[in-house]
Amino acid sequence: MIIGVPKEVKDHESRVGVTPAGVHTLVASGHKVLVEQHAGDLSAMPDDEYQAAGAEIVGGAPDVWRLADMVVKVKEPVEKEYRYFREGLVLFTYLHLAPLEELTDALLANNVTGIAYETVRDRAGTLPLLTPMSEVAGRMSVQVGAAYLEKEHGGRGVLLGGVPGVPPGNVVILGGGIVGTNAAKIALGLGARVTLIDLNLNRLRELDDIFGGRLFTLASNGYNIERAVCAADLVIGGVLIPGAAAPKLVTRAMVAKMKKGAVIVDVAIDQGGCIETARPTTHSDPSYTVDGVVHYCVTNMPAAVPNTSTLALTNATFPYLLKLAKLGATAAIQEDAGIAEGVNTFNGVLTYKAVAESQKRDWQPIAELV
Ligand SMILES: NC(=O)c1ccc[n+]([C@@H]2O[C@H](COP(=O)([O-])OP(=O)(O)OC[C@H]3O[C@@H](n4cnc5c(N)ncnc54)[C@H](O)[C@@H]3O)[C@@H](O)[C@H]2O)c1
Repeated sequence: MIIGVPKEVKDHESRVGVTPAGVHTLVASGHKVLVEQHAGDLSAMPDDEYQAAGAEIVGGAPDVWRLADMVVKVKEPVEKEYRYFREGLVLFTYLHLAPLEELTDALLANNVTGIAYETVRDRAGTLPLLTPMSEVAGRMSVQVGAAYLEKEHGGRGVLLGGVPGVPPGNVVILGGGIVGTNAAKIALGLGARVTLIDLNLNRLRELDDIFGGRLFTLASNGYNIERAVCAADLVIGGVLIPGAAAPKLVTRAMVAKMKKGAVIVDVAIDQGGCIETARPTTHSDPSYTVDGVVHYCVTNMPAAVPNTSTLALTNATFPYLLKLAKLGATAAIQEDAGIAEGVNTFNGVLTYKAVAESQKRDWQPIAELV
């Protein structure tokens, strides 16, 4: 199969869909990989590394899209890429189609097989191609929070680890899923005092076992949350109710009662945020202050660390990519139920129920089409 890897063109996107290591395995398996010039530059993966791994470096995006059987990307195509869609093309990337009617139209009109990272499922029923980005954002949240706690960045001047004779900083984490667990790991590693709040008692039991007495767990309710955030130096928001907007667990009134110079990192901002005073920010203007509390609410935190994020994402996507290349899309969809779950458009038909419902369109299960 000929696999095309274009340079990402979406604003501030710095990851790339395949690494030199991925190219090496694909080429060793008999495939041809076309990488657009400079596609990996922002992830610290230069053209010569791709070339050494066996890729052919191609001057421009039109040729990558035209010559490839399957195009592998990171973000959903932007409008200027729609012109490259054509019959028979397989596109493997994050698609997030629900709010994107024009992209859906373009994929359907051109009979593109659109396989979305965010809907691929593994045998356990989880979404394995979303997990790595939550791991990155969870770990990064503490690093970012620690920096904003410094006086220079508007914080109250607290060192999370404390020093002998001075107590450590107080970190409160809302949600004990992937983001929360990874945040807890880093905060504990820095020596902070960490409290994690979740609604799911079984999850709290697991975390209690994993971290032992080093992590304080609390059941999620307004009373506990208010007491915890008022004593916090750093609050990290990582709750998720799948498919729904995040619940506003920390109210404006609670923020007003927090310590001046405390810091909030609301990772759940991509689902609306779990702090009432949180609003989406960007890497170019990441923070603002409400009632003396610094807020950091960047919706795409992993883009700040593209080298790590590209490696983490492609570690998860690559086994699926290799299977698609080996078997071809149709056979891979037939054989692997997880890949089948990833198919959002096939042969001009919308095949993902949740996208169809949010766009009020007809759809057909992929199992009826292959
Ligand atoms: N900003 C970014 O760059 C970025 C990057 C990755 C992930 N995210 C977002 O971070 C959020 C968390 O992702 P995740 O992968 O950790 O999700 P997850 O499903 O693994 O964990 C969510 C946790 O929230 C808990 N929860 C739900 N309702 C709660 C409540 N009322 N009180 C306390 N806990 C509650 C759940 O029990 C679960 O343990 C998601 O919105 C995700 O999209 C953002």
